[in-house]
Amino acid sequence: METKTAVITNPTGDAQYEALNLETKAAVINHPTGDYQFEIINLGELHPDEVVVKVVASGICQSDEGVRDGSMAPLPAVLGHEGAGIIEKVGSGVKDFKAGDQVVMSFGYCTVCESCRTGQPSTCDHYNELNITGGEHQDGTHRFYKKDGTPVSNFLNQGSFSAYTITSEASLIKVDPNADLRKLAPLGCGLMTGFGTVTSAMKPETGSSIAVFGTGAVGLGAMMTAKIEGCSTIIAVDIVDSRLELARELGATHIINSKTENVQERIAEITNGKGVNYSVDTTGVSQVMLASVQVLSKNGVAVPLAVTKNTMEFNPLGELVLGARKLLGVNLGNVVPQLAVPKLVDYYNQGKFPFDKLIKYYKFEDINRAASDAVNGTTIKPVMIIDEEYRNDDPVEYVS
Ligand SMILES: NC(=O)c1ccc[n+]([C@@H]2O[C@H](COP(=O)([O-])OP(=O)(O)OC[C@H]3O[C@@H](n4cnc5c(N)ncnc54)[C@H](O)[C@@H]3O)[C@@H](O)[C@H]2O)c1
Ligand SMILES: [Zn+2]
Ligand SMILES: [Zn+2]
Repeated sequence: METKTAVITNPTGDAQYEALNLETKAAVINHPTGDYQFEIINLGELHPDEVVVKVVASGICQSDEGVRDGSMAPLPAVLGHEGAGIIEKVGSGVKDFKAGDQVVMSFGYCTVCESCRTGQPSTCDHYNELNITGGEHQDGTHRFYKKDGTPVSNFLNQGSFSAYTITSEASLIKVDPNADLRKLAPLGCGLMTGFGTVTSAMKPETGSSIAVFGTGAVGLGAMMTAKIEGCSTIIAVDIVDSRLELARELGATHIINSKTENVQERIAEITNGKGVNYSVDTTGVSQVMLASVQVLSKNGVAVPLAVTKNTMEFNPLGELVLGARKLLGVNLGNVVPQLAVPKLVDYYNQGKFPFDKLIKYYKFEDINRAASDAVNGTTIKPVMIIDEEYRNDDPVEYVS
């Protein structure tokens, strides 16, 4: 679909970087919580540390839904931050990638602040400006522009709901040239977050117990990882029976439908009254976040990681202090994506992280349906095929 034309790349007219003269079909959110609308927009200039990626596929994460109201990246915006594709062009300062490389994309980080230098890029000093507030460069330029010159935000340094996008080298994870990018696309956020929450933040001892509240991609990612890490009691909590059944198939030793069962009582029963060593909340529902703290054993650790404005009210003395419990904030699993994603691919290849069971494929033009299927619980991980030509001798099965 790429047609090369003369385009406005920088309305200030002081272009310092390489003009791409490349336009792209993108799904744009123009109004708070409005539908995705397909538009042909322009790519901005390529900065030295950046690459143009021809996007093959992109997962939809619940965080895309969470920011569709314009509360973070200002609208208009191209969302999408679980993209994978093929590098089309590299900027003059890119060291480790070349055109034609297959990549999975993840969040952006500066690489030089204290957090980045100590292997914790998800708390990068520049995290917000790189990932959350729309992707405007320090020089005021953007990755996308409408034809009339209006800047268009991206999200999490990607904007993967677009046939082409610009991201920085720090967001790229190189994958095997033979790997199927349609499958690997969603590894850069939700699943990696669940994985890292267990491996980087909890670090459970072999034989530990864990309760996972919410069995979407993040919760199931945490659950499959808890099994790999040797947790022996893995309790999945949700209100959707089909998700709980899948959780059982993927390694939950116990499942609890909290609509019909009392979670605290059941967890007390399962753990002989001790409570669980670890819990993670992915629901963002106030009472559930609180329950995830209340089911902890002494010295237990709870990680609430939903993107939500909801609050949790509790008495710290009763819920934390007397039991020496801990509440941890963990962003994006606190991992280095370039180290975490290849591990997930290895675990997948060994049959230990069968995340493909969560995926349903949609055509890019069905993005609005894919998003609503994610919200209403029909699909755990919608993945849109953005380049239908990719491996078209081995077509995926689309949701009909
Ligand atoms: N902070 C981060 O690093 C980070 C990264 C990725 C995603 N997230 C956030 O994590 C959250 C989970 O993402 P996801 O993609 O797994 O979402 P999801 O919607 O697929 O999963 C949430 C699950 O919670 C269940 N649920 C809802 N209400 C419940 C209740 N009252 N009791 C029990 N279960 C309930 C749902 O049925 C669903 O299965 C989202 O808020 C997302 O934005 C955070
Ligand atoms: Zn940094
Ligand atoms: Zn996400």
